Formats: sequence, C-alpha cells, structure tokens
Amino acid sequence: MRTLIVVLLLRCLASADDQKFPNEFKFGVATSAYQVEGAWNVNGKGQNIWDTATHYNNFIVDNSTGDVACDAYHKTDTDVNLLKNLGVHFYRFSISWSRILPYGFANYTNPDGIHYYNNLINKLLQNGIQPMVTIFHWDLPQSLQDLGGWTNPLMSDYLLDYAKVLFNQFGDRVKYWITINEAQILCTGGYEGSPLMKLAPDYNSPGIGPYLCGHTLLLSHYKVYRYYQKHLKEKQKGKVGITHQSIWYEPNSKNKDDVNAAETKLQFELGWFAHPIFSKYGDYPSVMKQRIGRLSKEQNYPRSRLPTFTMHEIRELRGSADFLGYNHYTTRICKPGTNATQPSLESDAGVTCFQNSSWPSSSAPWLKVVPWGFRKILNWIRTQYNNIEVIVTENGFADRGDINDCGRVKYMNSYLEELRDAINKDGCNVTAYIAWSFLDNFEWGSGYTQKFGLYHVDFNSPNRTRTAKRSSYNYQNIIKTGKIDKNYQPPGFQKCT
Ligand SMILES: *[C@@H]1O[C@H](CO)[C@@H](O)[C@H](O)[C@H]1NC(C)=O
Ligand SMILES: *[C@@H]1O[C@H](CO)[C@@H](O)[C@H](O)[C@H]1NC(C)=O
Ligand SMILES: *[C@@H]1O[C@H](CO)[C@@H](O)[C@H](O)[C@H]1NC(C)=O
Ligand SMILES: *[C@@H]1O[C@H](CO)[C@@H](O)[C@H](O)[C@H]1NC(C)=O
Ligand SMILES: *[C@@H]1O[C@H](CO)[C@@H](O)[C@H](O)[C@H]1NC(C)=O
Ligand SMILES: *[C@@H]1O[C@H](CO)[C@@H](O)[C@H](O)[C@H]1NC(C)=O
Repeated sequence: MRTLIVVLLLRCLASADDQKFPNEFKFGVATSAYQVEGAWNVNGKGQNIWDTATHYNNFIVDNSTGDVACDAYHKTDTDVNLLKNLGVHFYRFSISWSRILPYGFANYTNPDGIHYYNNLINKLLQNGIQPMVTIFHWDLPQSLQDLGGWTNPLMSDYLLDYAKVLFNQFGDRVKYWITINEAQILCTGGYEGSPLMKLAPDYNSPGIGPYLCGHTLLLSHYKVYRYYQKHLKEKQKGKVGITHQSIWYEPNSKNKDDVNAAETKLQFELGWFAHPIFSKYGDYPSVMKQRIGRLSKEQNYPRSRLPTFTMHEIRELRGSADFLGYNHYTTRICKPGTNATQPSLESDAGVTCFQNSSWPSSSAPWLKVVPWGFRKILNWIRTQYNNIEVIVTENGFADRGDINDCGRVKYMNSYLEELRDAINKDGCNVTAYIAWSFLDNFEWGSGYTQKFGLYHVDFNSPNRTRTAKRSSYNYQNIIKTGKIDKNYQPPGFQKCT
C-alpha cells in the first residue's frame, strides 16, 4: 500500500515535471540586421543587396524598403530595456556585413559599425542577456554580389575574412555564433527565380543557381567553423553553429510512395544543408545526388547540376558545428510526382506538397498552424543526426499587427507544448527556444504587410514607437515560470475567444 502511494506520488511529480521546461532551458527572441536596423546609408555603411533590391527591383509587395525599418540602429537603449523586461536569456541578432566592411572586402573596417555592435553587445551583457550573433543573414555587400555572389565559389574566402573581423572584435564577449541563416531559403529565393518566393539578388537560374549558392555557403561555413576551432576556441570558448530552416513534410497517407515522397522532400530541404554537416557520413543526401544526377543526364547536361565535394571537403564539413540552429514555422503534406518545369528544384525533388485547408491560418498564406509537425520534425532531426544539440533559433506567427495578438499567443503556446514534449517525453536534445520576432519588422518580399513581432512598431511614427503586445506578456510568463499557462490573462487585454 505504502509502495503504491509512493509510486503514485512519484508519477504525479514526474508528470508535473513533464509540464515544465528543464531548469537549464533558455529562451530568447530574434531579429536580423536588414529587417530592423534602418540607417542604411549612415556613418559609413556600404550598400548591400537588400538596399539594391528595395531601391531598384519591384518584388517587394508594398514597394517598401528597410531604409529606416525599426530604426533599431538608433534605439539600442530602448530595445535592451524591452528585452530585459521580457526576461529573455538570449537576444539573437545579425551583424550587417556592409556596416562592418563597407566595401565587402576586409581592406577597411568601419569604426562606427564596430562601435554600434560593441555598444549593443555590452548593454545586453550588462543586463544579463547573452548575445547570439548571426554572422550572415542574407544582406550580402553589393560589391560581392557583383562578383557573382554565392555562385562564385571563391566567396567562401570572403565570408571567412569577414567572420575573422567579427571574432577579433567581438569574440571576447560573444559566445554563440551562427555562421549563416537559412541557406536553403536564401539560395532558393535568391537564385532559383521562382515567382513563388523571391529574395535578393533575384537571379533567375532554376535548378542550377541554388545548388551553386548552397555549395559555396556550405564551404564558407566549414571554413569559418574550422578557423574558430583552430585559432580561437581555446581562448574565446564560444560555440559556432549554423541555422537551417525546414517545414515538416507529412506523408499524404501511410502508403509507401507517399512516405517516400515526404522523406525525399525533407532531404531536399533540410538534408541539403544538414546532411553534409550533421550526418554520420557527410556529403549531400544520397537521394539528392541520385535524382539530380539522373535528371541532369536526361536533360543533356555534361554533369550533375548538383556540384560535388572533394573527400577533403566532405571530411571538413562533417561535424563542423557545435549545434544546429533550427527555424520552424509550419507543415505541409506530400505525395509523389510533379508537373514543375525542368530543370528546377521542384522537378528535382519530384514531389507535390500542399496544406490542409482546415488547418488554422495566419496572415501569411504559407504559414498554417500545425503544432504537431514541430514535434515530428524535432524527432526526425533526433534520429537523422544522432541527437545533436538543437537550438530553435526561430519560430513564430504572422498577423496584421494587433496588440491583442491572440493568434500569436495560441500559436506560441501550442508550438511550445510540442517542443516541451519533444524534450521531456522523446528526449530531443533541444537546449533553447528563440521566438521570431522581437519586433514587427521588414519581412523581405512581404515588406511591412506581415507582422511577426512580440512588440508592435509604429511604422508611421518617426519615433518607431514600440508597444508590448499580449504575446510579449504571455512569453514573459512562460520564461518566468518555465511553464505554458493556456489561461494566462495579462491585465488590460480583452479575453481571447
Ligand atoms: C509598387 O510599384 C509598382 C511599380 O511602380 C506599381 O505598379 C505598384 O502598384 C506599386 N504597389 C504598391 C502597393 O504601391
Ligand atoms: C577597399 O577596396 C575597395 C575595392 O577594391 C576599394 O574600392 C576601396 O577604395 C578600398 N578601401 C580602402 C579604404 O582602401
Ligand atoms: C500533372 O498533370 C496531369 C495532367 O494535367 C494531372 O493529371 C496530374 O494530376 C498532375 N500531377 C501533379 C502531381 O500535379
Ligand atoms: C484535413 O483535416 C481534416 C480535419 O482534421 C481531415 O478530416 C482531413 O482528412 C484532412 N485532409 C487531408 C488531405 O489531410
Ligand atoms: C546533446 O548534445 C550535446 C552536444 O552535442 C551532447 O554532448 C549531448 O550528449 C547530447 N545529449 C543527448 C541526450 O544526446
Ligand atoms: C517622439 O518621441 C519624442 C521624445 O520621446 C516625443 O516628444 C514625441 O512626441 C514623439 N513623437 C511621436 C510622433 O510620437
């Protein structure tokens, strides 16, 4: 009898614990330089490809620019105070390459750029917040784009030059580095030319440009990682990782062809950039090598449109990250076959994916609310990549900017529940969660039409006034208690329905 009571009590305690994030688990929020800083031509900053795209191209839906954005460049004190009040352990932000190296090359370092980030980093640390720095978050200096950008394999040396400047200037205080943000999205949106997703530099090279871009970025990544390991790790003791994005791809049915289709799609999206670094044998996923090789041959190309790594490069890439930064937003359902034009990334994967119209929506057409997909992909990562350490570096919800943002609160609560279960019940090695985004900001091709912030920004006011949304209070409570309270009611907000 007594044993039974003890067992029941233990079980009760265990399940209570199951509801909590582990004590050492960390929370944060994220932004990126071009999306929030503004000050595009101030104090010696050079031009980057987003300055070019917003001033001269026409794929930004509201014709807006990041010239001012949230004016974060002039609001370090305001923003650090908000972050402190929110209670985050981490602030993930990116450094603007062309603010540090206005020419793109490391022949000249802009003292004002160094000063700006020094001040931000110091203020964060003074307030007990760890800076997590993304070295490259899409805003390539225009001078380097003029040399082919990431289709030029020599660009890996230039990323290394730039990273060295950052390590030397900030590495005494920055202990979390992310080399590259979402190479897969950047290479697809920037080089494929698909009308469905356009990003700077808006090249049009379907089925070729994205693979060259990806190849160069992977080589760039390992050069930066190995440099840090060899020359700085002992002294600076930081961690260097890389951030990848993926959707969860659910098979349309239990049927073997559907299961294979979803798996193929995952390998073409996350595996493309994660397999070379995190898998046991390295290199691109075999399904990519096989499919692209075969199709390239059928299409009369003299060799595969997917470049090949040397043995040396495969070895250097394998294991070249201290953690996987992982960005996740939504889920799609897949079945085999596609009618996409050839060559293209779509036809190379040979899979068609869609979303269930009954899934709850956000204001972004691609972003449906499917929390269970989060737990599934975290488990996929756990089994594919030997349970490496994962830091969720982005997750978030788009709306039109409501202060009482019930949609975002529901999204975050439900995704965080799945994350908690993935950790506590499945043993996924996730050590931190970073919400996208700290502030409403310039959402690339969507301009200012999609809002992801926990804080509203008044883009009509020259002050770019910040206002805390409901979701910021909800998140503050989660960070404080380590628990998700679905009934949490911050004072002064109408009840969510
Ligand atoms: C953006 O600019 C283009 C080209 O000048 C114009 O056709 C379009 O109507 C503009 N869109 C908005 C939302 O202002
Ligand atoms: C740095 O290099 C660029 C490109 O070669 C050149 O235009 C610029 O004048 C150089 N800057 C300095 C300060 O030497
Ligand atoms: C491709 O096109 C054919 C003919 O229109 C259609 O029957 C088929 O369903 C399409 N396949 C996919 C995967 O969309
Ligand atoms: C969409 O979701 C509904 C409700 O959960 C379900 O009944 C239906 O089978 C789903 N459709 C697909 C294609 O998954
Ligand atoms: C989590 O990742 C870290 C770093 O890679 C590793 O040392 C640790 O063993 C992993 N934990 C588990 C439970 O696999
Ligand atoms: C901008 O901020 C200043 C200083 O806080 C304040 O005096 C002014 O009223 C604000 N303007 C607007 C339009 O909010």
